Amino acid sequence: MFDVQSIRQLFPILNQVQVHKKPLVYLDNAATTQKPLPVIEAIHYYYQFQNANVHRGVHDLSQKATLLFEQTRNSIAEYFKVNDPRGIIFTKGTTESINLVAHSYPLSFLKPGDSILITGLEHHANIVPWQMACEKLGLKLLVLPITETGEWDLNLLPELLQQNVKFVSCSLVSNTLGTINPVKKMIHLAHLAGAKVLVDGAQAVGHGPIDLKEMDCDFFAFSTHKMFGPTGLGVLYGKPEILDKMIPYQTGGEMIREVTFEKTTFNDIPFKFETGTPPIAEVIAFQESLKWLSSLDWAAVHIHEQNLLNIVTSGLSKIEGIKFYGTSSQKVSVLSFLIDGIHPYDLGTILDQKGIAIRTGHHCTQPIMQFYGIPGTCRVSFSLYNTEEEANYFVQSVINALKILR
Ligand code: ALA
Repeated sequence: MFDVQSIRQLFPILNQVQVHKKPLVYLDNAATTQKPLPVIEAIHYYYQFQNANVHRGVHDLSQKATLLFEQTRNSIAEYFKVNDPRGIIFTKGTTESINLVAHSYPLSFLKPGDSILITGLEHHANIVPWQMACEKLGLKLLVLPITETGEWDLNLLPELLQQNVKFVSCSLVSNTLGTINPVKKMIHLAHLAGAKVLVDGAQAVGHGPIDLKEMDCDFFAFSTHKMFGPTGLGVLYGKPEILDKMIPYQTGGEMIREVTFEKTTFNDIPFKFETGTPPIAEVIAFQESLKWLSSLDWAAVHIHEQNLLNIVTSGLSKIEGIKFYGTSSQKVSVLSFLIDGIHPYDLGTILDQKGIAIRTGHHCTQPIMQFYGIPGTCRVSFSLYNTEEEANYFVQSVINALKILR
């Protein structure tokens, strides 16, 4: 049974924090999710009783930390239905995961004249690293256009894939519009065209488990802080047979087998891509997010989140001069909108006075703003711990704010 009130008990910030003397109504979950108590406690416990570096010491504390650290790698593989945990690489976030691939894959496999395809719905983190790679290596960057509803224009995909595309990098869910993209279709067509595919899963992982075996992407990137886990930690999944052949991204300690002043040989995957001391407390604590996520009834969560989205969509649609951006029928619980004559920043500031946290601006997706010809939007993003009362309070607060702003 899904019980939002008992879920909220796990999140101290949702129950104990006031903003401008009002209870916090946290509707900025696409930016980062809140953390449940077991995650917070695991970080605390680690620094109190378990702190040691991993993969380095013969001493007991280091071996215990290493065991816990590697257990999380195994749990991630299990959660995402990945057979071989060597394909799970720890990074500092989605951005670093994408940078790793954008640096290493083209250098290892591509040649001048090859093309990389991204889409019109990408976050800057899935645009800029590919632009840099293209500039450095003489590759061509192609972009799959989007439609007015904020969806990929799939009619144009077959023709684009014929333009010597060797790599596709696309998001599963748009951070700005909430669109759930048809990545399985993209992967299938890209593979037929001989291209590998990276899926940016940052905005999807907080809304339910993902089966990477079924998806069959070659790479998958996400951040743990969008999955009720710690900040500063991300994951890159890659098919081991591809990772094995890729040159390292960053170099230094831990990722080597043997170093002489003449030559260095590299460690096996995943360690070849994990140089320096990793975020150990964060990795160990993330185990607790996975345990908690695995215990949830996701069909019920999905119904709950869609209900919240419906409440705000129908509540706000009564406002004169409102326009929604991203109107696909396949969406996570994210709503972007603008109201005629109202600056998003002004509305965000007034809502903040009511305790409501939303995001305003371009959401690190300036090309989406250019497509719609707007400077930014107000974006409200729900998570499973949000309530109907919060959704209704948000709608009423927007209506009240307009009385001041108009
Ligand atoms: N990429 C995150 C967002 O969309 C930070 O808010």
